[in-house]
Order: sequence, then structure tokens, then C-alpha cells
Amino acid sequence: MGKQARAIVDLSLKDLVKDLNKAYADEWLAFYLYWYMAQIVSGKAYEDIQEFLNKLAKDELEHAGEIADLILKLGDVPIANPMELEKHANAPYMMPPKNTADINRIIRIVTEAEATAIEVYNKIAKKTLGKDHVTYQLVTHILSEEVDHEEIFENLLER
Ligand SMILES: [Fe+2]
Ligand SMILES: [Fe+2]
Repeated sequence: MGKQARAIVDLSLKDLVKDLNKAYADEWLAFYLYWYMAQIVSGKAYEDIQEFLNKLAKDELEHAGEIADLILKLGDVPIANPMELEKHANAPYMMPPKNTADINRIIRIVTEAEATAIEVYNKIAKKTLGKDHVTYQLVTHILSEEVDHEEIFENLLER
């Protein structure tokens, strides 16, 4: 983003980047958690869950990339040290169940993580509405995907 593009951002860039870095940390933790659970899930009908977890993991990694790109455009850098990710995240890392066949627990972990993501992006969208069009556009795009993620896993629970 050039000088003028940054100049039209009607918000504190420092605060905005802080919020974006927190969301960036969330995305990495979600990616790792979903990817990991896709590896370990077992038991009856594990294949469906594995497929959904892999799909979501791929989306979260994409979100991390999109947010990283935006932070760079805003003239800053995303968190460099992976050890720092949990410290900056909006929610603590949720441990996958010890019982790898506990599919209901896995579903609850995902729906809880997605609910947090929806809250986080809703907050950033409200903050940037009319103030930073570029960030607003990205976070509402990500938000709509988190809404889909929540729905996929909520439906699994109701089945
Ligand atoms: Fe995400
Ligand atoms: Fe998600």
C-alpha cells in the first residue's frame, strides 16, 4: 500500500495492525488444530470429519496468508516467531481430545473456535466500516467463510 492508500485509513494504524496480528495468530492456531485433528481422528465415520477438517484447515491457512499480506500493505510485519502466536491469539489453544474417536468433542472444539473467529472479525468489521475500506473488505470476506465453517460443523452435531 502506498503513502496515500495508508493516509486514507481513518484509524490508528498501530491499533489496526495489533488487531490484525491477533487474528493472524488465531488463524495459525486454528490451522494447526484442525490439521492435527484431521491426522488423528479415528472411529466410526472418521473419514467425513477428516475431510471437513482438512477443508477448514486449508481455509484458515489461506486466511493467515491474506491477513499477512494486509499487515504488510499497512507497512508492518506479521508475527515472526511461532512461539509468540498463542500469546497474541484472541483465545487460548484448545487441546484436541485424548480419545481420538471422540468426534462430538472434535465438533464442539471446531464450533467454539469458529464462534470466536466470527466474533473477532465482526468486531474488526465494525471498527473499520467507513474507515478502512480495504481491511473491511478482507475481514468481511473472511467472516463469511467462518460463518460457513460454523454451519458445516453445527450441522454435523445435529445429525
Ligand atoms: Fe479463518
Ligand atoms: Fe474457520
